[in-house]
Amino acid sequence: MPDYKLVIEGGRELRGETYVSGGKNTSLAVVPATLLAEDACQIENLPDIEDIRVLIQILRHLGAKVDWKPEQKQMVVDPSQLTSNEVPFKLSQRMRASYYIMGALLGRYGYAKVGYPGGCDLGSRPIDQHLKGFRALGAKIYEENGMIVLEGKLKGANINFDMVTVGGTINVMLAACRAQGDTVLTNCAREPHIVDTANFLNRIGARIRGAGTDTIRIRGVSKLNGAPYTVIPDQIETGTLMIAAAATRGDVVLHGCIPTHMEALTAKLLEMGILVTSQDDIISVQLRQGHRAIRLSTQEYPGFPTDLQQPMSALLTRALGTSEVIENIFDSRFKHLDEMRKMGAKSTINGKIAYIEGVPELHGAPVTSPDLRGGAALVIAGLMAKGVTEIYNPETIARGYEHLESKLNALGSVIRREPIILNGNGHANTL
Ligand code: EPZ
Repeated sequence: MPDYKLVIEGGRELRGETYVSGGKNTSLAVVPATLLAEDACQIENLPDIEDIRVLIQILRHLGAKVDWKPEQKQMVVDPSQLTSNEVPFKLSQRMRASYYIMGALLGRYGYAKVGYPGGCDLGSRPIDQHLKGFRALGAKIYEENGMIVLEGKLKGANINFDMVTVGGTINVMLAACRAQGDTVLTNCAREPHIVDTANFLNRIGARIRGAGTDTIRIRGVSKLNGAPYTVIPDQIETGTLMIAAAATRGDVVLHGCIPTHMEALTAKLLEMGILVTSQDDIISVQLRQGHRAIRLSTQEYPGFPTDLQQPMSALLTRALGTSEVIENIFDSRFKHLDEMRKMGAKSTINGKIAYIEGVPELHGAPVTSPDLRGGAALVIAGLMAKGVTEIYNPETIARGYEHLESKLNALGSVIRREPIILNGNGHANTL
């Protein structure tokens, strides 16, 4: 049982200005990518989140020297004296992005032994496309005591992904940087953090073109050298804060954003009658009156991001009318709706479609965070609700949002962490 719960006193409008942190998913790709360099890399704008702290444990387990200054959002990774190319399951299963260690070590040393990845339970999350890419580059792959072993001297290849996969695109790109000859990846994902990772790799000497399109060309090089790099802001945190502003009928200004990364969400918020404006690296969100129901279908970038489907569903619980939410990317990403029903939300699920019927009001309740973005959705619902909401399993939220509670409290919310008191029969005392 975790040692704290989040307690939210709802019904307050978010007003004021805050900033967006460095991107979680881009950082979880760029930091492992530093292992490809022969000497130190300094990475700036990294978010201080649990997944980064786990990644540091993995890098140190491999023998990399890691100097992490969270208050300065700065990390120096010196991978020049690695002592291992194996990541045990007890570390790899603590996050999804541990799979990037495979591509980095395979690219650098021609060998990697990594436990299966973990991550949010969003249904089955195989890595067959990652392994397909590595095999095409010449790696021999087999299992040994439940660990994945990859070995071989890599040669460039033409690889077409069977489906659009963010992790697969990045992971095979990592390995291909050091393969002998040219690699062409087709049917690639186009997320902003794929471009960011490719920009970092080119900064350390890789030769990658086309990241951000569905075709990426990579000319293998024999050596990559350390360099400084600053990761982009978090697209999904930006979207989560935009949705929270609208959900509380507030007026919020976000600094340090990249508005072009937010176009799919912005279009939907405008369709709902929410005022969104942007200039340079600033996005403003305002809502005074009710907002309309919509039809929402998650797609790969530049479509509506699956990671914002859950936060958006909180906003839809009080829309005028019934919204239709179609989750096309993951098999099971509606668990948060069961929890929101405890707060008075009305929704039904039919396969990959959720129907959310707007209600005039939510009320506070004890709820449990099912996963990272589902937890963020429950925070938003708690901000909207009348009364007090308790969120159990809140560490799922801390995995991917930097200082979320303090950012929201600076905008006028009242969120605090409270110890969980177990009563005589070992259960938590709830509201
Ligand atoms: C990344 O996950 C993100 N995680 C996810 O963010 C995000 O939801 C997802 O991309 C889609 O944008 C990180 O970057 C660490 P995929 P990933 O490979 O790489 C299937 C968050 O909340 N698939 O694009 O796992 C897969 O099962 C997290 O920050 C295969 O079948 O996503 C899924 O249904 C959640 N075989 C779909 O493709 C494969 O080899 C998309 O997965 C790979 C994927």
